[in-house]
Amino acid sequence: MLTVTIVLIGPPAAGKTRVGKRLAKRLRLPFVDTDAVIVSHHGPIPAIFAELGEPHFRMLERQAVEEALSEPGVVSVGGGAVLHPDTQNDLVDASVVLLTVKPEAIAARIANAKRPLVTDLESWKRLVAQRSSLYASLADYTADTSSRPIDAIVEEIAHWIETRNTEEGQR
Ligand code: S3P
Repeated sequence: MLTVTIVLIGPPAAGKTRVGKRLAKRLRLPFVDTDAVIVSHHGPIPAIFAELGEPHFRMLERQAVEEALSEPGVVSVGGGAVLHPDTQNDLVDASVVLLTVKPEAIAARIANAKRPLVTDLESWKRLVAQRSSLYASLADYTADTSSRPIDAIVEEIAHWIETRNTEEGQR
């Protein structure tokens, strides 16, 4: 079994949870979605933002990320998790995959009230503009999810992970 920690980062609605779940299955690794961990312990994310504020959410998120990164597996983190300096440091030791998506592809994906920082396409674009260079600086591999079938995206990432691990094993 692979003993890597693969972390999926990227903007809201890039498909981190969907791709992460499938990738974990493909590589036979455990899967953790840190947003789901936070929700299971503390309730819905919009309520945490509204009642306790974003800094409190970021603190809960950091705890969930730190725990998730301590074991081999596939970890999908919320779009803002990489803003935390400790998480940026932790990612140096992981295989970091950035999922990108074009604005044209996300309108349907953001049409729900699950994301307090993303209320429409404009707020999504603003958030991505602020973060895109940070995302790129942390990524070891980038895959765009705008139009290809999920199986093709998962296969491409799995191939990269397997190749990277074979090369590391040979060193
Ligand atoms: C956030 C992204 C969300 C969630 C929270 C904050 C962000 O996760 O963690 O609403 O700051 O980008 P997704 O990226 O899974 O939507």
